[in-house]
Amino acid sequence: MAEETLKSGILTNLFFEIIQSPVNIALVLLIVFLVYKIIKSRQNDFAVPPPAPQLPKLKKRDFTVEELKQYDGTQEDGRVLVAVNGKVYDVTKGKRFYGPGGPYAAFGGKDASRGLATFNVSASGEKYDDLSDLSTVEMDSVREWESQFQEKYDFIGRLLKPGEQPTNYSDEEDEPSSSTAEKPKDE
Ligand code: HEM
Repeated sequence: MAEETLKSGILTNLFFEIIQSPVNIALVLLIVFLVYKIIKSRQNDFAVPPPAPQLPKLKKRDFTVEELKQYDGTQEDGRVLVAVNGKVYDVTKGKRFYGPGGPYAAFGGKDASRGLATFNVSASGEKYDDLSDLSTVEMDSVREWESQFQEKYDFIGRLLKPGEQPTNYSDEEDEPSSSTAEKPKDE
């Protein structure tokens, strides 16, 4: 009982001491303000951003360099495709990297092979690149990147060489929905 009275006496003294000095009041206000800011910023950290609307999976198909170009994330649906070592991947879920304003935006809608192999984030030509001048080490690097893309992103199709005919993937589609699908082709 005596201990409680002592404690409340100390607190009362402390309170009066604080409110007697304008400096102390200012310090208390500052502390309250900072604690408020910290709590608020923590709440913001935990706030889950609304999930980006999921785009329907792209039907498997091959692309020419020209066709690939439109998928740089600037078009209405915002889909982003990137080619690595002749394979086209849907990298839309990595849009923060490859979409407009991203650090690797130069790869969006492009063949990123040369850029990835040469550590050049802006190396992506306008024309088909056969990569034939890349060294063995650089080609190994391209293949390594390719397997990383394969693990993380959906494979959509191949990047076509000039004049190359696209593959007919209709027989590989899992949805047998399309009534216009062509007959399965023997490979
Ligand atoms: C100062 C140099 C660089 C820094 C600090 C850096 C930093 C990073 C970081 C932190 C990530 C992982 C991001 C995440 O998973 O959240 C990343 C991913 C990546 N970086 Fe870099 N990077 C650099 C240079 C480069 C260069 C030169 C290239 C290629 C030309 C490159 C290509 C990539 C790619 C393709 C990814 C994978 C994105 C994905 O997951 O799809 N980076 N980088």
